[in-house]
Amino acid sequence: MVLESFLLGLAYIFPAYVANATPVVAVKILGRAHPIDCRTVMIDGRRVLGDGKTWEGLIAGVGFGTFTGFVMSLFIPYLFRSMAEVFTLSAGALLGDILGAFIKRRVGLPTGSPAPLLDQLGFLIIGLLLVHIIFTLPPWIDATTIILLMVFTFAMHIGTNLFAYLVRLKDRWY
Ligand code: CTP
Ligand code: MG
Repeated sequence: MVLESFLLGLAYIFPAYVANATPVVAVKILGRAHPIDCRTVMIDGRRVLGDGKTWEGLIAGVGFGTFTGFVMSLFIPYLFRSMAEVFTLSAGALLGDILGAFIKRRVGLPTGSPAPLLDQLGFLIIGLLLVHIIFTLPPWIDATTIILLMVFTFAMHIGTNLFAYLVRLKDRWY
């Protein structure tokens, strides 16, 4: 069943969503944050990653993403094969986000500027890719499911940002 695989797939990638969303909140709560790139500027005159990628965000994201997967596995025991798999998914998501920032800086896009597709899907693609390299993805996550998850994630991202803008949580719609 396509719908069944999609819903199960959605549950499977949920820790990656959490890992990706946590840094914004974590940095707000902590108030201070240390950039991963230590403010290093590359030969192109731009920051390696920029102020938008911090250690606090990374650690909080990987930690909370993994914890979410742990709690989920108490209710759906067959969802993840190990906690290492959940950790890899969460870490991969934030690695994808960091890679996205690296690419954005290299093409001259400032921190916080929109990069369609990269912003919405980078974390998911690298998260799933890393899990696949280390553990191979569960057999029920087939190509159709992955495509549906990408489309859904993209739409969700746009939708939630638009909502946050409309209720004035964010000052930009993207
Ligand atoms: N964040 C963080 N550490 C991370 C990822 C995110 O501290 N590893 C926080 C930053 O405060 C960042 C916010 O979460 O500004 C939103 O994340 P994101 O949209 O991914 O970053 P941008 O500000 O858009 O920066 P970039 O253009 O580099 O992606
Ligand atoms: Mg952004």
